[in-house]
This record gives sequence, structure tokens and C-alpha cells, in this order.
Amino acid sequence: PPQVTGDRVTITQRQAEQEILPGLRTPIFGYDGRWPGPTVVSRAGRPTVVTHVNDLPVPVAVHLHGGHTPPEHDGYPTDLVRDRHDYVYPGTQRAATLWYHDHRMDFTGPQVYRGLAGFHLVRDDEEDALPLPRGDREIPLMITDRAFAEDGSFAYPSLDPELRRPGVAEDFMEGVLGDVVLVNGAPWPVLEVDAVRYRFRILNASNARRYLLALRPGAPLVQIGSDGGLLDAPVTHTELPVAPGERFDVVVDFAGFAPGSDVTLRNLLGDGTTSDVMRFRVVRTATDDSAVPPVLSRVERLDPGRAVRTREWRFSLEHHGDRHLWTVNGDRFAPDRPQAEPLLGQIEIWRIVSDAHHPFHVHLNPFQVLARRGHPPSPSDAGWKDTVDVRPHEYVDLAVRFTDYAGRYVVHCHNLEHEDMAMMAAFTTR
Ligand code: C2O
Ligand code: CU
Ligand code: CU
Repeated sequence: PPQVTGDRVTITQRQAEQEILPGLRTPIFGYDGRWPGPTVVSRAGRPTVVTHVNDLPVPVAVHLHGGHTPPEHDGYPTDLVRDRHDYVYPGTQRAATLWYHDHRMDFTGPQVYRGLAGFHLVRDDEEDALPLPRGDREIPLMITDRAFAEDGSFAYPSLDPELRRPGVAEDFMEGVLGDVVLVNGAPWPVLEVDAVRYRFRILNASNARRYLLALRPGAPLVQIGSDGGLLDAPVTHTELPVAPGERFDVVVDFAGFAPGSDVTLRNLLGDGTTSDVMRFRVVRTATDDSAVPPVLSRVERLDPGRAVRTREWRFSLEHHGDRHLWTVNGDRFAPDRPQAEPLLGQIEIWRIVSDAHHPFHVHLNPFQVLARRGHPPSPSDAGWKDTVDVRPHEYVDLAVRFTDYAGRYVVHCHNLEHEDMAMMAAFTTR
């Protein structure tokens, strides 16, 4: 996607057609008429105003996922934009890979599926001072899955029940899955690389699909950052689980591969067409002055010993008569009924309890994972996170602290169909 920088950015949301599958035109809802939308690049410490002009036939809400944002600019699910809105992002946060996407109440799933998602990168001096791969060796990768109808249009079940076919989840309750895996809007792309280090900012922007990423032939994915920016130190993964909404900033070194060889990014959770994500074709040797330093940053620890209270968030399926609802603490989302009122500046311990796979997401501030089922966190839980995959019949303990902005925000499942089926809760910071 093209990059846009500057303190003022205007994005027009409109309908367009994009050639995604060869020879077919797919109707999309696009930021500036494209999917993914333009990559907005901000500088930490400097405010960015993004004006969203809505030329779509539906109302929208724009959420900056991972943004440290005042409530009136957070894209609250009922703060709908019919015409235009200036979203003001203060930039009071460290360098990180953020993304922006639609957040309209009850319609986030179909509107994101149609194309309303893009990257928003925050850069800062700390990160710039590191010798990480940069320029055309630093590439954001937005991974999604989609199902297509014969004419090339997206087959989202609730848009047209007739379009259900293998590849679209039969059971819509689990979320919508597609049989085509795309990176930056292109199906199974091939990227030509030099035999050097690359930095990939991986985002799972799928509605419901989880991936377990690995390179074949085998090579490590060296994680340098998480949802909330740089880690203290690199973490080496041979397999990397990525749930919807999560970001992993990784460095891959292609120096061990001879020119002419292919390296595939695989999805070990997939089968058939969903087991491959993309391919790298190593074309030539080249000089490489990049490095991954053993110390990347100093991440402040939220000390659980200083927590002022604990809260439990229970994510579960409830039966209301013959209706099934995805709920938080037994309740469906009520935008005007906050379920919690955390105090700004105070550390809290949150326990997320889950009956199925639910990627838990919180707005305003990131958190730190303390434990899974009382055991130490997974290697992929390191650093500041704003989304964490809670597995079936698991509980995850988090340390969270909200800062700066008083007002209303949400927690929700980032399986977008679960979110639309009411698995979201309001909270108010004070
Ligand atoms: Cu990425 Cu509230 O969402
Ligand atoms: Cu968010
Ligand atoms: Cu869920």
C-alpha cells in the first residue's frame, strides 16, 4: 500500500472495484478506494489529524487499533460518521505498528471484510537509532482470508446467504473463514528479496482466522516488536501463532538461502489452500548493514504487586431461548451501560476467562500478559500487547493501566463476527 505522511491526512471512503483474482473485478469498500487503505505514517510526539470523508452508502466508525486516543476520536461503535469527521490522534505513544479499521456497531465484520482496513505506523527516535532493516527492506504484511463468488465478489454469508459454499464457515457462529489467503490484498503473493535481512510487520486482519506461521525451508522468525512496539530483546520463533488483531514485528534473514531458491511462509493451522500464505523468491546476494541488536528497548514492567484491584471478564456463549449470543460477563453489548470504571493511572489485574478461542482486545492502553492458566506466558505474549488469544477453557491474567484520557471505551473479542454478535463490553475511565 502507498504511504501517506504529514500532520494532516484526508482519506475518502468509497466504493471501488479492485482486481484481486486475475481477470475479475471485486467490488470493495475502500479507504481512498483501495484495499488495504493507504499506510498512514506518524511521528511519536506529534499529533496527526486524519479527516475521514464518507462517500459510502453506509455509516462508518473509524478505530485506530493500538492508538492512545481520546474517547471522542476512538471510533466508539455508536459514534457514526455519515459525512466527514476529523479524527485527532495526539501521538502520545512509542513507535508501533497500528492499524485502522471500521468499528460500526453490529456491522464491523461485513464492513472490514469488504475492505475497510489499513496500516498506521508510528515512528520514533528510539527505533530509528537501531540498525534494523529499513527502506524497501521494511514491509508491512496484512494477512487476511476471503471467500469469493464466481463473479469475483466477496462471499460474506450475511451479505447473501445463497453464497455459502465450502470455504465459507458453515457455522457462522465460529466467524467467517475464506479459502483464499491474501497478503496486502493479493492472493498468495510472491515477493522477490535479496539474500539479506528483512523486517516484516505482520498483522492478522482476518475476521476470524488464526494462523500458525512458519517458514519452509525452516528459518527463524526473529520477533523484535509486538502490538505495542519494541520488545526488550528479540524472541526467536520457529512457529508463530497470530490471532485476529495481533501484530508481530519480525526480522527474517535470507542470507542462508542461495539465489534462485524459494522460501514459503506457511500456515500450519491451515489445510488445502489455506496452508500457504505467501512466497519469498531469493533473487541475488547483496550487502547488508542491518543487524538485530541483543537489546532493543527498555520496556517498563507493570508491577502486579501494585495493582489496586482485580476484575474478571468472562467470554462465553449464552443461550437466550433458542437464540445463541456471544457475551461478556453474560451480557450482550450495551453501548450506554459500562461494565467497569477503572481509575486513570492505577494498575489493575484482569482475568480473561474463555469458553472458546477468543482474541481479547482492549482500547486506549496496551497491557502485559502475566500468566496463562496460572503458568508463565507463551513466548509470543512478550511485550506490550493490546490483543491476546485466549484459548478454549483457558484463563489469561493481564496487568493493565489506563492513562491520560477519561471517557468511554470498549473491550471485545476481535473475532469480528463474535464482536458483531455482541461480544463487547463498554468501560469508562475516570
Ligand atoms: Cu481492532 Cu475495537 O478493534
Ligand atoms: Cu482497538
Ligand atoms: Cu470470540
